[in-house]
Amino acid sequence: MRTNEELLASLTPDTVLAGRTALVTGSSAGIGEAVARVLAASGAEVVVSGRDAGRVQGVVDAIVKAGGRAHALTADLGAEPAGIRAFAQRAEDALGGTVDILVNNAGVYPGTLTETVTDDEMQALWATNIRAPHVLVAGLAPRMAERGSGVIVNIGSWMARVGVPYKALYPATKAAVEQLTRAWAAEYGTRGVRVNTVAPGATATRGNAAFADQLAEMTKGTPAGSPVRPIDIAYAVRFLASDEAPFIHGATLDVDGGIAATRLR
Ligand SMILES: NC(=O)c1ccc[n+]([C@@H]2O[C@H](COP(=O)([O-])OP(=O)(O)OC[C@H]3O[C@@H](n4cnc5c(N)ncnc54)[C@H](OP(=O)(O)O)[C@@H]3O)[C@@H](O)[C@H]2O)c1
Repeated sequence: MRTNEELLASLTPDTVLAGRTALVTGSSAGIGEAVARVLAASGAEVVVSGRDAGRVQGVVDAIVKAGGRAHALTADLGAEPAGIRAFAQRAEDALGGTVDILVNNAGVYPGTLTETVTDDEMQALWATNIRAPHVLVAGLAPRMAERGSGVIVNIGSWMARVGVPYKALYPATKAAVEQLTRAWAAEYGTRGVRVNTVAPGATATRGNAAFADQLAEMTKGTPAGSPVRPIDIAYAVRFLASDEAPFIHGATLDVDGGIAATRLR
């Protein structure tokens, strides 16, 4: 099987999203990076974002080198809402006044056993995984609705619908994201804004690089047999963002190698 890096380095440009603009949060690494690079390869003009300016610029450079269009923006999405509202405005400005596609990907997954989760971790989980997407949707979805078109894809998790004995609060934030998706599909869908969730399985990224062995062990008995590659999530996001998905509203698309459906191990 080809690696994530090989696939990202050999993306074939197409016009599936030509003329669209996209804001992808947390796109300086991992799943978000793959999403930004795939959307850009399909013709979208993309805002790449994260906290670390060097990492953000690295992804912008990769997109431009491949012939795409991208802008670098930094922001801490765990910070107070006012800063996130300003970030939404900066993204709109960078993209010429219109965000057609919003991908709420930035997320954190600290903590293990319930009794060991710190106050700072609880705050970061709420602020980054739930509050920031809410603030961005509140800022951008009404303008999509005014224009009569727009796409929002929220990144959930396979863990949102199963109980695991080593993480409780992080999956709960992702269950909230799935429910926000359904509510936003109801709130904005009739005005042309499609809102959906992509739920990744255990995916090999920078954020969990230290746990590569556990990821391999966790996914060994799944139908796919190995960790998901970030680009596999990106292909699903591109599909949902495209004109091939006009009847998909409020759905959760599992891209998890079958781990949630089968739980073979
Ligand atoms: N990897 C998995 O197995 C897996 C499985 C299911 C769901 N997910 C979800 O998929 C999403 C991406 O996960 P990942 O594994 O790709 O993560 P990752 O490798 O840790 O990358 C996270 C990205 O988000 C950015 N980010 C993190 N905190 C931020 C903040 N406070 N403000 C702004 N940007 C921030 C990071 O950039 P900076 O560090 O520069 O800020 C980076 O670009 C998350 O929502 C995660 O919950 C992951």
